[in-house]
Amino acid sequence: MNRLKTVICGVEFKNPVIAASGSYGFGREYNEFYPISEIGGISCKGTTLEPRDGNAPPRVAETPCGMLNAVGLQNPGVRHFVEKEVPWIKEQGTVCIANIAGNAVEDYAEAAAVVNDSAVDMVELNVSCPNVKHGGMQFGTTCAALSEVVCAVRKNLAKPLIVKLSPNVTDITELARAAADSGADALSLINTLLGMRIDIRTRRPVLRNNMGGFSGNAVFPVAVRMVWQVKNAVNIPVIGMGGITDYKQAVEMMMAGADAIQVGTANFTDPFAMPKIINGLQRYCEDNGIGNIGEIVGTVRAW
Ligand SMILES: Cc1cc2nc3c(=O)[nH]c(=O)nc-3n(C[C@H](O)[C@H](O)[C@H](O)COP(=O)(O)O)c2cc1C
Repeated sequence: MNRLKTVICGVEFKNPVIAASGSYGFGREYNEFYPISEIGGISCKGTTLEPRDGNAPPRVAETPCGMLNAVGLQNPGVRHFVEKEVPWIKEQGTVCIANIAGNAVEDYAEAAAVVNDSAVDMVELNVSCPNVKHGGMQFGTTCAALSEVVCAVRKNLAKPLIVKLSPNVTDITELARAAADSGADALSLINTLLGMRIDIRTRRPVLRNNMGGFSGNAVFPVAVRMVWQVKNAVNIPVIGMGGITDYKQAVEMMMAGADAIQVGTANFTDPFAMPKIINGLQRYCEDNGIGNIGEIVGTVRAW
């Protein structure tokens, strides 16, 4: 019996543990530690219509129980991704999720058309990017901008579409509903929280970009809260992430309402974090008489 088998939007995962975009590249480096076929799937590093070098360094910094990053979407471009990376990931035997980013609606839509003609199983839309045609405001922070980009991508994409929500908003449920109403098949959350640190010796921000995305174990309670709110606001699958480091946090995130989970920053401190979480979930199911892990999804008994 496969107690961890999970199906989302018709796509079968051998377990609900997926690598979060930007923490796992295209899986090649981790495949030297363990066969990446062991994990449920990979949300690949964010890809854009054209190749990008990313931001100037320093681009990452450690914080207590987490990190800040402003990598700036360094990637080889969507055509390289579908020609060179996707076939290799599919050969390994795990679910391949393309993570698409852009700075204009047209760029997202065109990148979606390219991945639509590839072997990727699903597409995840990173809407935490600045919209350069509208003053640099993140797409994912207003319902109007979010709907516009989701609708444009939906037109070019027949594959299942996951919209990855930004936590940098006042009411995440409004954005969740806007994404679902615009054609999202599933939602994932949370992307990084906007943060900043300063070196008191130089009085310079620790990141060259001044601000960066905050992630890791410290953000976990925020992520659980938002997943719980979103699960109660929409009727489509929800993929939860943000600070998950061990199997107990994976269980907690699923009880909050996540149909599957993603692991990001934890991979940097322990390259075996994901296999350990998968083993932990397997044992948890066996010890608690759970036939399939899906039985725990959304079972938190809120007061
Ligand atoms: C170094 C780094 C790069 C990231 N790059 C992307 C990206 O390209 N696309 C994306 O949607 N999210 C990206 N993220 C966000 C993660 O996928 C995830 O949403 C976030 O880090 C919260 O999960 P975690 O606390 O488990 O890392 C990145 C995160 C980090 C730390």
